[in-house]
Amino acid sequence: MSQKITKKQLNNWLEDVKPLVNQGKIASYIPALERQDPNDLAVSISYVNGDTVSCGVTKKTFTLQSVSKVISLALALMDHGEEYVFSKVGMEPTGDPFYSIAKLETSNPSKPLNPMINAGALAVTDMIKGKDVSERVERLLNFFRNLTGDSSIHYNTEVATSEFDTAFLNRSLSYFMKQTNIIKGDVEELLEVYCKQCAIEVTIEQLSTLGAVLANNGKEPRTGRELIPEHFARICKTFMVTCGMYDASGSFAIEVGIPAKSGVSGAILGSVKGFGGIGVYGPNLNEKGNSVVGLKLLKRISDQTQLSIF
Ligand code: DON
Repeated sequence: MSQKITKKQLNNWLEDVKPLVNQGKIASYIPALERQDPNDLAVSISYVNGDTVSCGVTKKTFTLQSVSKVISLALALMDHGEEYVFSKVGMEPTGDPFYSIAKLETSNPSKPLNPMINAGALAVTDMIKGKDVSERVERLLNFFRNLTGDSSIHYNTEVATSEFDTAFLNRSLSYFMKQTNIIKGDVEELLEVYCKQCAIEVTIEQLSTLGAVLANNGKEPRTGRELIPEHFARICKTFMVTCGMYDASGSFAIEVGIPAKSGVSGAILGSVKGFGGIGVYGPNLNEKGNSVVGLKLLKRISDQTQLSIF
């Protein structure tokens, strides 16, 4: 396994890829995301022993968007167990864009193919326990607070509202799944929980800490306290490999080889078992929805330190 990376090395790699920050485009289908600064670039590595090294815009927060799907899956598994969760959502990659509705109608049985696409993630968020929207959101927030060790973690109200007001496709997916009995609860309430979940804000170090817990088999790096049962942490990392980078997961596995989950804010969470978590952030996205500069930086880190798990 790779040696520890110094701050100087990490900073050099960040400087190498910096000219690429202008390539790609900020996600605009959630209007509030357009306010991100395209020049922002940050990277952090959190090791399984709790040490951390970070460079770039380390003080800024950004929303997790689809990166949150890995963590909501862990909570749903802890709430309901594997058998129930996978009775409602599948385990297979799609090869379709993350927002696609096509396979919901054509797959048999009619359930979303995996928890990393929007349909699957909506089905998973529907399972998060709580008596009402605020209790469910609070349980999600508390889970993120435990995983990052920061009790102030919250969601960005403006981004959550902006997505809720424009979530026409996610509404369609959810109402379709309500009809087919995958979604049990009220769809508008689900949308509210889901948009708040996606709008949870973290710093780059907190992002890499999420990956470190997964890399440490679900245990808090410094204390060894179990936060996610090991088997569920393994399931989450496996989905990161097979479905985490949308319909670019195959090429990413070949080129970079790190279990990873991307979000349309430009965040990417990586996790390498026994090594640690890697967070990268750069808001401009390629046509598949992955951060252009983030991809380059992850490739650079993986190449330089032989981090590919394959
Ligand atoms: O549901 C959405 O469209 C966003 N909140 C998250 C999308 C995202 O980051 C990529 N999805 N896999």
